[in-house]
Amino acid sequence: MKDELVNKIATIRRTAMSELTNIADEDAVRELRVKYLGRKGIIQSLLSEMSALPSHVRPEVGKEINELKAFLIEELDKKTKVFLEISREEIIAKGRLDITLPGRYVKPGHRHPLRTTMESIVDIFTGLGFSIYEGPEVETDYYNFEALNVPPEHPARDMHDTFYVEGGLLLRTHTSPVQIRVMEKERPPIFMIAPGAVYRRDSDISHSPMFHQVEGLLVDKDINFGHLKEVLAVFCRKMFGEKRDVRFRPSFFPFTEPSAEVDISCVICQGKGCRICKMSGWVEILGCGMVHPLVFKSVNINPKKYTGFAFGLGIERIAMLIYGINDIRLFYENDMRFLEQF
Ligand code: PHE
Repeated sequence: MKDELVNKIATIRRTAMSELTNIADEDAVRELRVKYLGRKGIIQSLLSEMSALPSHVRPEVGKEINELKAFLIEELDKKTKVFLEISREEIIAKGRLDITLPGRYVKPGHRHPLRTTMESIVDIFTGLGFSIYEGPEVETDYYNFEALNVPPEHPARDMHDTFYVEGGLLLRTHTSPVQIRVMEKERPPIFMIAPGAVYRRDSDISHSPMFHQVEGLLVDKDINFGHLKEVLAVFCRKMFGEKRDVRFRPSFFPFTEPSAEVDISCVICQGKGCRICKMSGWVEILGCGMVHPLVFKSVNINPKKYTGFAFGLGIERIAMLIYGINDIRLFYENDMRFLEQF
């Protein structure tokens, strides 16, 4: 009985060795592992045959079986490693993975010149104590015109100037509606700016159907035109340099009274006269004025108790002056040759 089993073990070892050398792939290794080492495998059945032997011969036979088992585990593990190595080499040989190839260079992006300009403007005003607000780009006629004292016959309300959308709505033509939205919700003192996109039916080298503005509003007791002048003069010098000349020209807006436009000495020719400033030495950068009493009325702020000023400036216009750009459309074309210069 014992010798029979010992012979059997030796035969199994020989068969196993030849099977191992003929192994073709990883699947075959897995099959052999199950065949010999599995729960219903050959080693397991040898162990149960051994338990039928008289106890004094069991240790000797058990040792043989364990040696065979250890041998099989070692050989099968070796084969697994070999096939792993082979498949890696195959992948490389097929060219699916060239580990010597240098990595792809991802070019870092940077801020758009309009965004940079807007951030500089906003930084100056937040530094002066103004808070940032936003409003919707699709507006009602009420916020964009009516509450701002823009009369029904005003040309800005014409289909030729304003984009109207479904449901009696429109694309805001300026950031001034944000003034109304903020004054409806908050009581003075109000120090706000509102940056954002605005829309007008206009398109040429200095006008785009969509452009950007920053609105400003300050409302409190005893605010007068002197405050307006000083805040905007400080802004102009911080934005365009300490030596910049600033002038206020009388103007008209339905929502401010009195109203003004602000010019700075031309940043291109320093006031000597050039194509950009149309030989005048001055360039216009914003509109402003004291908040009209009728605007205060529409938001239930008492104009006898409070006064304030508002201003609106065009971001594209300022960016064009700072960077010396003469065509507004360059900002929106995403031509890398243009954008890379900033
Ligand atoms: N909303 C005006 C415009 O778009 C600018 C402005 C804002 C003027 C606030 C006065 C006060 O032209």
